[in-house]
This record gives sequence, structure tokens and C-alpha cells, in this order.
Amino acid sequence: MPWKSDLRWSDVTPRTDWLNRRQLIAGAAGLAAFPAAARIAAAPSLYSSAEAPNSLEDITSFNNFYEFGFDKGDPAAYASALTTDPWAITIDGLVDRPGSYDLADVLKGQPLEERIYRLRCVETWSLVVPWIGFELAGLLNRVGVQPAARYVSFETLHRPEEMWNQQSPLMPWPLREALRLDEAMHPLTILATGLYGEAMPKQNGAPIRVVVPWKYGFKSLKSITRISLVADRPGTTWNELQPEEYGFYANVNPQVDHPRWSQSSERRVGSGLFGGREDTRMFNGYAEHVAGLYAGQDLAADY
Ligand code: MTE
Repeated sequence: MPWKSDLRWSDVTPRTDWLNRRQLIAGAAGLAAFPAAARIAAAPSLYSSAEAPNSLEDITSFNNFYEFGFDKGDPAAYASALTTDPWAITIDGLVDRPGSYDLADVLKGQPLEERIYRLRCVETWSLVVPWIGFELAGLLNRVGVQPAARYVSFETLHRPEEMWNQQSPLMPWPLREALRLDEAMHPLTILATGLYGEAMPKQNGAPIRVVVPWKYGFKSLKSITRISLVADRPGTTWNELQPEEYGFYANVNPQVDHPRWSQSSERRVGSGLFGGREDTRMFNGYAEHVAGLYAGQDLAADY
């Protein structure tokens, strides 16, 4: 039986919910109004980066969200058309409790945490984002992953009336991405419902998106409505479109270039015209946590 409550997503105020939890952690209600101060007071996550995040302006004005257009400014201009409430996620395939779950049910009991992660886009720009989210493993354990499951696939909402660019024939919609089960269960992999102490801005993938910080940004699918547990490696949008350019794994790797450009360095969004490039780090700086997942694999072949 699917777990269900009478609570709907529309009954939950994400900001209040998050702030209440954070106040509990910080033990200082007054800090809630000042995200920077509260961030310091909140229990630091083992996985959070110590880097200063990009500004909210940078994070919400320079986006890839092709459903709203191919330009970086399009998501900020057009994503307001997206209805994010009500929102349900279908969880199906090799799970004990498949079903269509209201987002309130999905979030129930999952400990929200602030995680400052670097997002490294395959196009060689990067951002540091203070996400709010919870570990995907918590949700997968709750629905009961069956032993035969080896991959987890994700699908974005398909609603061309609101996501105007889904009418474009240039891409196969809805976008799909997938992880190997051990990658999906890794504690670094989160479902994010907000950033900077607020509910997720629409251009960043409201109301809920995947964030896998050691992989190129395209693996971190936005506005998801389906999670499927499957036995065989599923097709994924970018890999199917251009397999030589976009591997299934898409681990950030400065030693393996994209066929048309180097992946050895990146430019931090907001660093200005003369901002220097930084060296890209193996697994986006998360090697100590995730390198073991790929022991024995040739990362030049499994790019
Ligand atoms: N998810 C959907 N549904 N559509 C997209 O176009 N772009 C991806 C990823 N998730 C994308 C998506 C890419 S290429 C990147 S770099 C990140 O989202 C960007 O996330 P951000 O805009 O929150 O920084």
C-alpha cells in the first residue's frame, strides 16, 4: 500500500516549514530573518562546502531550463508560468510501494538540511548554491527498493501549455536522466525543495529537483514528476541525443575533455568579465566521498 496522508502540498508552507526546522537547529528565532547569519548558526552538514555561495541574483538569473527556452535568461523570464501546486510525483517500477504521491507525502518525515554545493555545468561555468533538501536515499528507503533494481530514472514534468519550449521539436520531451542505484543512494545526492532559505525559485526547478553535486549539472533534473526504479540502464535525454558528447555517468572530470572543449577549468558565474578561471576538480571536489563508487572503472570510457 502506498503511504498517503490527507495533507496536500498546498497545505504545507515550505518556507515556514524550513524556517521552523532551522530555528530548532539554530536555537535562535531572530536569526531566521538573516539567512547568512542563520547559515552559520545552523548545524553544518558534513557534506556542505565551506565556499561562499553565489548571490541569489546570480543563482536565479543565469539558468539552464530548456523547457522555458534555450537562453540563460529565458527561465527567469518565463518560468513564472509554471504551476507548482498541486504537485505529485509518480514513484514506480521495482519498489514495494509504488504510487502517485502528493509532494506533501514525499516530504513527510524527510529531514531538510541546508547543503552548500558547487554546481558545475558541462558548459564550464559554475555556481555555489545553498540548497535546502533531503537525501534521496531517505525517500527510496521509504518506498522500498526491490533487490532487482539497479538504476533510478527521473522525468521532468511534461506540460507544454506552461513550459512553452516543450512545443519545440528540437528536443525530445520530457527530459529524462538517471543514476546508478549506488549513486542515487549516496548521501550527497539530494532532492532539493529550496535555496537561500526559501522555497525553490521556479527557474531553478520548483517545486522539487535532483541535485547530484559531483556530476555535470545536466544530471540534476529540475521539476521532477516521476522516479522509476529499474533493472536495466535507462535511456537518458542528453546521452541519447549526443552520446559522444554526453556520457551516461557525466562525472565532473578535468582530465576527460568534451569533444568540442576542455573541461579542465571553469568560470564562476558573477566573477565578472575579468574574473579568473578556476581549475576544475575531480568529481567537482567531492572525490573523497564518491571516488570509491567507480573503483575499477575506466573513467575515460565511462565518461
Ligand atoms: N532540468 C530540466 N528539466 N531542464 C533543463 O534544461 N538543465 C540542466 C539542469 N537541469 C535542465 C535541468 C543543466 S544543463 C544545468 S547546468 C542545471 O540544471 C542548471 O541548474 P540551475 O539553473 O539551478 O543553476
